[in-house]
Amino acid sequence: MNLMMKHFLALFVAITVSAITPLASLKRNDFASIKSIPSQVSTGNIVANFVSSQFGFDGPQLSAVNSTSFDWWYFDAVSPDLKTSIVVVFFTSLSSGFPFITPSPDVTSVAIFYSFTNGTVGAIGVPASGAVVSTVADGSQGYFKGVEATWVGAPDMSYYQVDVNAPALGVVGRLKLQTKAPAHYPCDPAQAGKAMEISPYMGWANAMPDATADADFKILGSRLNFDGIGYHDKNWSDQPFQNNVASWYWGHGRLGPYSIVWFDAIATDGTEYVSGYAAKNGNIISTTCAPAALKVRPINSPYPPFIHTPAPDAFSIVLDMGAEGVLSVNLTMEMTIVDVPGMYNRWTGSMVGSVNGGTLMTAGVAMLEQFKMLP
Ligand SMILES: *[C@@H]1O[C@H](CO)[C@@H](O)[C@H](O)[C@H]1NC(C)=O
Ligand SMILES: *[C@@H]1O[C@H](CO)[C@@H](O)[C@H](O)[C@H]1NC(C)=O
Ligand SMILES: *[C@@H]1O[C@H](CO)[C@@H](O)[C@H](O)[C@H]1NC(C)=O
Ligand SMILES: *[C@@H]1O[C@H](CO)[C@@H](O)[C@H](O)[C@H]1NC(C)=O
Repeated sequence: MNLMMKHFLALFVAITVSAITPLASLKRNDFASIKSIPSQVSTGNIVANFVSSQFGFDGPQLSAVNSTSFDWWYFDAVSPDLKTSIVVVFFTSLSSGFPFITPSPDVTSVAIFYSFTNGTVGAIGVPASGAVVSTVADGSQGYFKGVEATWVGAPDMSYYQVDVNAPALGVVGRLKLQTKAPAHYPCDPAQAGKAMEISPYMGWANAMPDATADADFKILGSRLNFDGIGYHDKNWSDQPFQNNVASWYWGHGRLGPYSIVWFDAIATDGTEYVSGYAAKNGNIISTTCAPAALKVRPINSPYPPFIHTPAPDAFSIVLDMGAEGVLSVNLTMEMTIVDVPGMYNRWTGSMVGSVNGGTLMTAGVAMLEQFKMLP
């Protein structure tokens, strides 16, 4: 057993044991599963789970990974000045399941995206020789072999830690995320028996809609160290991504007392699907996929978006938070951190806005993305 694996197991055990204090949680933390995901693709039909269970919120959702499926775990953090950021994604998918990853025969891979204060951005993607993902209560823990990258989540998902120890690739470091807002599914809080599809065949579970982030990495010889806002979710499907998505806008951020997450997508049949989430003081105010609850639109750029339409430099977000009121946000992009020309962007952005036209809230911090899949 190598050092990284030992470290992973020690952390996993420590977090599991420390969380078992209250009696009521004993039963909950008895739920544990461990899944080995080989780097070789599985053949034939697999099963994707799209209805939530009582436990296992952040666990694997595919019975196995075949060439037309994907299941991944996504972590990000951005500094309050919107310049420094880190994204770590643990993929179990081939590029035939998700076209934006580097073609490779290995199902398991890790991608790291970074931006430095001076505007230098970059990405490092590497295949892993298999993965082990375990789940205790609702939190998950993953170990990606060869890359020496892990994530370890507390059973109640209050804390996640991502470690990368790959000096050969030029990346060593740690991201710590302490939750600020409760987990949710596309239309509901984290409860059993809820729909987990954000749009047809698109599974989504958002373990950490907002988090206090502490990032400390050494990337290609340079220190990347900041405190900021963080996020973690996972996505999966038993069909190729491009079969079901024409375009989408997703993002998360913090504005005034609100933690928000938005998702506004168009499926390949032209239907729009939305999911809007807001939390305040650590409580969910609204988590809904009612069509009227959220509208995200580009400012000064066409809607709906296609590969040939220019990327916007700002968005309008209108989120109906129910009894709390309607939150209207103007989001202006600050830094492009990933650019797949015509098809995909991830940005940092600043937000201003108000509830029901009241006091203007400023200095909001966001991380967001756009997919445009159709010519
Ligand atoms: C993967 O599994 C899904 C779900 O059963 C199935 O629809 C699809 O055809 C499978 N892909 C391959 C390449 O067998
Ligand atoms: C920007 O900062 C990074 C990290 O310190 C460094 O590696 C890179 O060379 C810098 N780029 C420029 C253009 O100064
Ligand atoms: C899943 O969520 C992450 C962060 O959400 C986002 O970057 C990614 O595009 C989403 N993908 C899918 C397929 O839902
Ligand atoms: C938001 O953007 C719209 C359109 O560009 C503009 O009319 C409005 O004044 C902006 N609101 C704020 C608060 O910046």
